[in-house]
Amino acid sequence: ARIDKAGYRHFMAKEIAEQPVVFDAALSHYLGADGLPQLPLDFSGFDRIVLVACGTASYACHIAKYWFEQIARIPAEIDVASEFRYRAPVLSPRSLAIFVSQSGETADTLAALRHVRGQVAQVAAVVNVPTSSIAREADIALPIFAGVEVGVASTKAFTCQLSVLAAMALQAALQRGAQSADEIAALAADLRLVPGLINASLTGLEAIAPIARQLAQARDVLFLGRGAMYPLALEAALKLKEISYIHAEAYASGELKHGPIALIDADVPVVVMAPRDALFDKTVSNMQEVMARHGKVLLISDAEGIAEAGAGVWHSLAMPSVAPVWAPILYAIPAQLLAYHTAIAKGTDVDQPRNLAKSVTVE
Ligand code: G6P
Repeated sequence: ARIDKAGYRHFMAKEIAEQPVVFDAALSHYLGADGLPQLPLDFSGFDRIVLVACGTASYACHIAKYWFEQIARIPAEIDVASEFRYRAPVLSPRSLAIFVSQSGETADTLAALRHVRGQVAQVAAVVNVPTSSIAREADIALPIFAGVEVGVASTKAFTCQLSVLAAMALQAALQRGAQSADEIAALAADLRLVPGLINASLTGLEAIAPIARQLAQARDVLFLGRGAMYPLALEAALKLKEISYIHAEAYASGELKHGPIALIDADVPVVVMAPRDALFDKTVSNMQEVMARHGKVLLISDAEGIAEAGAGVWHSLAMPSVAPVWAPILYAIPAQLLAYHTAIAKGTDVDQPRNLAKSVTVE
């Protein structure tokens, strides 16, 4: 079937809006009727997990590292594919290597996959295109069911990659006895709530467009997050760079004081991604360090978080409450919408940003 914009102004807007449906479809595939994960993988014998990808997919891997370690207590390491081979990684013959790629054709990721073959126990591909090179060359391909993604800046593929990686972490936890079946079922039930929360946030975030019009005046923007919200902050900064051409960087909030705080003045918007998780108070105190230096804080949290910590911020965006472990999925939505509306305000080519390609098949 021909892919069109279905009445949306851009493919990116359509693809953002599709996320409640496609994310749920991916989850339905990997979580069984009993609520437990059902992937064709056996995690019980692996001693570690190696995750490799490029661009947005690499940030999905970075979030999944937190999940594999926190939920399943299995060591996980991440690399961008263009660095992986060349650092001569020490590979364990009992490890699982996971390559994540929307297109399944990214040259660096494919070369990394070929590099590990024969050196690890199993090679898995998390891909959107099941006929792709990366899918075909892996021992097992796990499709993400996002549907065709046209916008160069990846949106729905990112959240669908996270759905598969989340299901993998749950299955690893179950098979390795890191958590009880009841605990896993509870985490899976929370995950199943995410599509509805994505839907609610899509309709609840009209406040983003006017904020983005102000953000469009900035020369530099910082994004802060702690824990698994740190890689989500990296993805938020990448989205903004890709389509609005505004310089953006992300830092783990606690690292701010070790350098980047020198950049803060009244002209620098700082986006603080702060779900009410175990690190909320620490994130808030990092945010206050920014405000004490007259930085303009955009606080993204839930209503309670904003009530507790939002006094004196430049702007705030209220998100639905979510199980903290899955917050990086839900908070991808304001990250995408912020980049989208900022690009609209700047008049850039949202679906075809300059200098970028949807799929990079040269190393
Ligand atoms: C290109 C795209 C990015 C994408 C990256 C990895 O740079 O512009 O949006 O994240 O490639 O692509 P892949 O298809 O491997 O996920």
